[in-house]
Amino acid sequence: MTLPKHVRLVEVGPRDGLQNEKQPISVADKVRLVDDLSVAGLQYIEVGSFVSPKWVPQMAGSAEVFAQIRQKPGVTYAALTPNLKGLEAAIEAGVSEVAVFGAASEAFSQKNINCSIEESLARFVPLMAAARENGIQVRGYVSCVLGCPYEGEVDPKRVAHVARELFAMGCYEVSLGDTIGTGTPGKTRQLFETVAREVPRDKLAGHFHDTYGQALANIYASLLEGICTFDSSVAGLGGCPYAKGASGNVASEDVLYMLDGLGIQTGIDLDALVTAGQRISGVLGRPNGSRVARARLSAQ
Ligand code: HMG
Ligand code: MG
Repeated sequence: MTLPKHVRLVEVGPRDGLQNEKQPISVADKVRLVDDLSVAGLQYIEVGSFVSPKWVPQMAGSAEVFAQIRQKPGVTYAALTPNLKGLEAAIEAGVSEVAVFGAASEAFSQKNINCSIEESLARFVPLMAAARENGIQVRGYVSCVLGCPYEGEVDPKRVAHVARELFAMGCYEVSLGDTIGTGTPGKTRQLFETVAREVPRDKLAGHFHDTYGQALANIYASLLEGICTFDSSVAGLGGCPYAKGASGNVASEDVLYMLDGLGIQTGIDLDALVTAGQRISGVLGRPNGSRVARARLSAQ
């Protein structure tokens, strides 16, 4: 398999990166992060979530963030919506693309969205219909594709089932989430090989958390499987509130550096991305989680 010439990066830092932060982060700081990412050339930014504020308090201000960001033409600014209520709030906030999120593990589905996998799929059906009526594209996520914090091993066939259902109900792309970052390259290839029997490879994306330091290797393995879209988080921010111990997504700067080295185009400026990551790391009072960013900043 030859490597692609172009890869699409989905920046999830403002959402996946910040959702688990316990300290308050101001709307202004979130807006600044999104605007910095727009300047860096990201073409898809997941800005926030319209979920229950009791479940994920940090995302409660998402509508305000949407109201204040400077939207660059051609860039998609998206939000997570778990149900119709979330979609309605997103529409009210002027959001043009949303994502629904299911899981390949029953236990995780219960912990994360308080319902079974089949119930979640049924819940997405009216959401999809309302999104269609409003001209809103919907992306789909499947969590726990390479392991579950509660159930352990997850059979790729279960992932394929949920991915197929999401695609069949109208999600234009399905992102496979290694929520706890336990996946390894061989298992990643096996996963995409299995899921690609149900959903075309160009409609699949990889979403790797870097808990075990395997994310870049897993992205390379995915590239060899013909996958051309990856989710990442500036400065490696993040973790899921319902996956204890799960660390951030793979750092966008590290993915970009690897893709640049492979001659794969993304349209993103590494220096500007490093600036964005360093600024939000300063806001959080935390060392920058991107190794590429740390190396470049220490060399200055
Ligand atoms: P529930 O308690 O079963 O919901 O939660 P409910 O329908 O019974 O409603 C209970 C209350 O929540 C009601 O309010 C509703 O109005 C409210 P009350 O009457 O008690 O005051 N409510 C809402 N409020 C705002 N926005 C909404 C909404 N829906 C209900 N959309 C629910 C079910 C799905 C709402 C809840 O479990 C939830 O919000 N979960 C979100 C969890 C979450 O955001 N997790 C992180 C994102 S997923 C992730 O990180 C994984 C990913 O990155 C991929 C990977 O890494 O694997 C995507
Ligand atoms: Mg995630």
